Amino acid sequence: MSAPPMPAKRRAWEKAILTRPDLLSQMASAVGESYHIIDPNTFAANLADFAAVFDECGVTGRIRYGYKANKARAFVRACADAAAIAPPSRYGVDVASAEEFGAALAAGVRGEEVMVTGPAHSDDVLRLAARHRALVALDTVEQVSRVLEHTPTEHLNILLRMRPDDPTTRFGMSGWGLQQAVADLQESDRIVLRGFSFHLSGYDVWPRVAMAHRAIDACQRAREVGHPADIVSIGGGIAVDYVEHRDWDTYRARESGEWYFDGKTAGSLYPYSTEVAGAAMLERILCDSDTTHPESVGVRARSSGLSIMIEPGRALCDGAGISVFTVRGVHTHTDGTDIITVSGTSMSLSEQWFDSEFLPDPELVDPLGSQPRSDTPIVRHPAIVAGATCLDTDLLSRRRIPFSRRARVGDLIVYPNTAGYQMDSNESEFHQVPVPPKLVLHRQASPTTWSIDR
Ligand SMILES: Cc1ncc(COP(=O)(O)O)c(C=O)c1O
Repeated sequence: MSAPPMPAKRRAWEKAILTRPDLLSQMASAVGESYHIIDPNTFAANLADFAAVFDECGVTGRIRYGYKANKARAFVRACADAAAIAPPSRYGVDVASAEEFGAALAAGVRGEEVMVTGPAHSDDVLRLAARHRALVALDTVEQVSRVLEHTPTEHLNILLRMRPDDPTTRFGMSGWGLQQAVADLQESDRIVLRGFSFHLSGYDVWPRVAMAHRAIDACQRAREVGHPADIVSIGGGIAVDYVEHRDWDTYRARESGEWYFDGKTAGSLYPYSTEVAGAAMLERILCDSDTTHPESVGVRARSSGLSIMIEPGRALCDGAGISVFTVRGVHTHTDGTDIITVSGTSMSLSEQWFDSEFLPDPELVDPLGSQPRSDTPIVRHPAIVAGATCLDTDLLSRRRIPFSRRARVGDLIVYPNTAGYQMDSNESEFHQVPVPPKLVLHRQASPTTWSIDR
């Protein structure tokens, strides 16, 4: 039994490229059978959408790209280019290692535009942060004690990460720990408490509004004892709408093990469509009031001279990349399921490694450009998509996707909207096969050109 169709929401550049099998084939002959395409223009437009919301709400905003979502240098360069013509501190990058920090600097991001997140920072990253006036989130009392004991010779700007009421998270401080950290920091004039941060799992507006109010309260209390405390970071977790609501609702309501090759439904699924996503979700967080506070987060931030930081990863990558694989083989399994084996592996489509399933449907593209006739009745050809490795579990799509025709060797399979977390967080050179390169589109050129991301 086949899963229902899950057509992806596609940006115009993506639709255009799907009509250019010549370009896709040219890319494959130049760089190999599997590759990713990224579009920095879309990434830059996403940055601008978030900035516009801060402006409309009259809030000083700091947007830090969560670098973990995609390693593309072109995206970090887009942050640097945006920063060059924006008010100070507006754009930057959220890093979680000395390597990401170095790559951000190499792409032109200034040190003071870097936000360091993640647990238990290395000495290298703390040294870099102090040298470059970056901001560092500290998330345990022990880390605070450690930086106080080994104070860098230069000032270190820090945020204290707050722990949500979620027993399953290992990050952040709350209650006594947070108070202790604020008190301990009063002893140092070199470790500067610039404010509070949090990052929530899930993609809901209201828990973020409630936590943001708690962080604003914490800033006000910290100011009373002499800390500058002028920044609240609300982290990432800004939702992305990959598919239409009705398709997502149908999938969730009817999901059945019979759709999947191994008979098991997904352990969990990303919310592929939500009530509010992207920049509109930021607007809700800043502008809506909840029952606990008569004033919105935006109004409180403005009246107390606080800036609000966001660290979106996935949402900035929304619509900014696709992944292309070449069909190596098509065969029918003993249970009747068609299996399409592609060049490359599911390690280039990370969702599959979290007992989950990447739901926006991939597209089959004939490299010779032939299109089905428009008067041909649609007959669905359900198939799963497998990687070219010796692992049984290496499936890019475990569900039977209702393709509009049977795949042929040499076809291209194009997965939509993969820039956020799908492309490279799990990639490896398994079987000594090089990881698929990222190709950067230059749409401002006419005709469109491309280069390898470096
Ligand atoms: C501290 C922090 N900030 C930002 C992010 C980015 O989250 P997202 O890509 O959902 O926006 C993460 C993701 O894990 C995170 O841990």
